[in-house]
Amino acid sequence: MPKYEASAFAPINIALAKYWGKRDARLNLPTNGSISITLDKFGSTTRVIFDETLEADVLVLNGEEVRTPETLRKISIVLDELRSIASTRFARVPCARWRARVLSQNNFPTAAGLASSASGIAALALAASHALGLKLTPERLSELARRGSGSACRSLFDGFVEWKRGELANGSDSVAASLHPASHWDLRALIVVVDAEPKSRSSTGGMTSARNSSPFFQSWIESAQATLGPIRDAIAARNFHALSRAAEENCLRMHACAISASPSLLYWKPATVALIHEARKMRAEGVEVFFTIDAGPNVVIVATAAHAAAARARLEVFLKNSGAALLETSPGRGAYVL
Ligand code: DP6
Repeated sequence: MPKYEASAFAPINIALAKYWGKRDARLNLPTNGSISITLDKFGSTTRVIFDETLEADVLVLNGEEVRTPETLRKISIVLDELRSIASTRFARVPCARWRARVLSQNNFPTAAGLASSASGIAALALAASHALGLKLTPERLSELARRGSGSACRSLFDGFVEWKRGELANGSDSVAASLHPASHWDLRALIVVVDAEPKSRSSTGGMTSARNSSPFFQSWIESAQATLGPIRDAIAARNFHALSRAAEENCLRMHACAISASPSLLYWKPATVALIHEARKMRAEGVEVFFTIDAGPNVVIVATAAHAAAARARLEVFLKNSGAALLETSPGRGAYVL
């Protein structure tokens, strides 16, 4: 009896040009393209076991069964799509109809705006496709991961990654690809975990609310599309100054759109704002850093390799007695099968 199971690791990623808005919520098609750095060391290790005795897909995250409908829906969308591909390709393979047990372990705080759904869903898509014996192209896998969670489609790829907005209604051109390998630019990401509790509003709900109620939503999309070129060019030229400007602008505009929704989505804590000021102060003093923040209170300080030690020393003093954790990482490789 063959075993229909496999495991994969997928890393977290941090967006420098943010995905914030869906033009098709069912397919997770974005209103704008986005660019991220795949980060080394931190991510999700996920094992998928197709089991004929199960009546529904089961998710066990960090040792505890998850019953949140939104999370379960995300994993079943990916699994259903894979089951459908498997049953068309190999009509006689019984596991194509079986439900799956998904065992996932994160080595970083879950749901604190550290792209946990990105790494979890990317690892799930890769592991489940292998468990079913499907040899999918990177584009197809990216498309599948995107269906579960938009930002997951980027965690499959190495280094500096762009997810194209795409134009087609079926979403087949809305996939991610690596722009440059991790070795392209030796940057460091200092992740300040201001608050490790799950955030009160998910990105999915936040985007819907911003789209429906922020008077600035349309301007955000136009601005987000416009900053993609400068961010892509700054990365290609390893121009830290240009990247700092464009990435901070993009981040603040995304949050301005979120804050201006009704009810307002204020993901920041006082420490988040204090860190924005600290990053600006460091930069004014010649330390090469910039900040970026996803849909949560945690701040990622990106530094050049030459200035990372100085930035870290400053942050350690700044965070003393605050209870905030500081994680250091750098650009890394995308998801892989274990
Ligand atoms: C602010 O990918 O978590 O981190 O597609 O609804 O699952 P869904 O949203 P998700 O949103 C991430 C939003 C962001 C920006 C980004 O990662 O680009």
